[in-house]
Amino acid sequence: MCPPRFFAVTYSINPWMNPDDPVDRDLALRQWAALKATYESLGHRVEVVQADPALPDMVFAANGALVSGGRAVAARFRHPERAAESGLYAAALRRQGIQVYEPEFVNEGEGDFLHAGPGILAGHGFRSDVRSHSEIQELLGLPVVSLRLVDPRFYHLDTALGVLDHDTIAYFPDAFSPGSREVLRRLFPDAIIADFADADVLGLNLVSDGRNVVLPAKATGLADQLEARGFRPVGVELAELLKAGGGPKCCTLELRS
Ligand code: ARG
Repeated sequence: MCPPRFFAVTYSINPWMNPDDPVDRDLALRQWAALKATYESLGHRVEVVQADPALPDMVFAANGALVSGGRAVAARFRHPERAAESGLYAAALRRQGIQVYEPEFVNEGEGDFLHAGPGILAGHGFRSDVRSHSEIQELLGLPVVSLRLVDPRFYHLDTALGVLDHDTIAYFPDAFSPGSREVLRRLFPDAIIADFADADVLGLNLVSDGRNVVLPAKATGLADQLEARGFRPVGVELAELLKAGGGPKCCTLELRS
C-alpha cells in the first residue's frame, strides 16, 4: 500500500475525477490508515511504499504491478500522468526479492488483472491493451481470460468484478460486453450478481481472503448477498479516494507468493 500523502485530483482520466471538486487529504489519509489497520486486524502484513509528491494517484497501489507466484509484471500506464509510478513500484518489489518483468504493452496491473480459479481474469477496453493479455499469459504461464469493459465508469476490471475465493466471484454484468458477460456466465454460473447501486459505490472493488471481504461500507446490498453466501463482509469508508475513482482494492497490491 502507498499512503495518500500527496493525494489530489488535479487531472481527470476517469469519469469519477473532477478537478473542481476539492479533496480533503487529511481525511483521505485517515480513511487509508483505517483500511490498513483493517488488513492488519485480519492478520495480513502490509508493506508500505513511499508516496511521491509528483504522483497524486500513487495511492492506488493495485495498478503498480501484477504479482503472481513470487514474480511480478511491472505496470505500463495508459496515461502519462501515472507513468512514473511503474518504476517506483517495480523497485519496491525488487527490494522484496521479487523478480519483475518489464512488459511491452500497456497494462495497469491488478486494476485489470485478477487471479481467479486456475488463472487470471483480465479487462480491456479503457486502460490495459488487449495485447497485454497474451503477453502476461506468456510471461506468467497462467491462462488469461479476456473480458471487454464497456462502461467508462467501470474503467478497470476491479471496479466491475471482485474475486471472493478460488471459484466464487461477484460482478456487475452491465459493465461488460455481451460476449464477455456470456463468458462470465459460463465460467462462474454461481457468481454473485451485483446491482447498479452497489457497483456505483465501487462495491466490487473488494479484497477477499476467502472469508473476510473488505469492501466499501456503502455497498450494503452486496454485503447482504455476501453474508448469505457464508462470507464475512467488512465495510470500510473510503469516500475521499472515491473522488479519484478508487476503493479498497485499488489501494491494495496483493503480494501473492
Ligand atoms: N485515478 C486513478 C486512475 O484513474 C484511479 C485508479 C483506481 N485503481 C484501480 N485499481 N481501479 O487511474
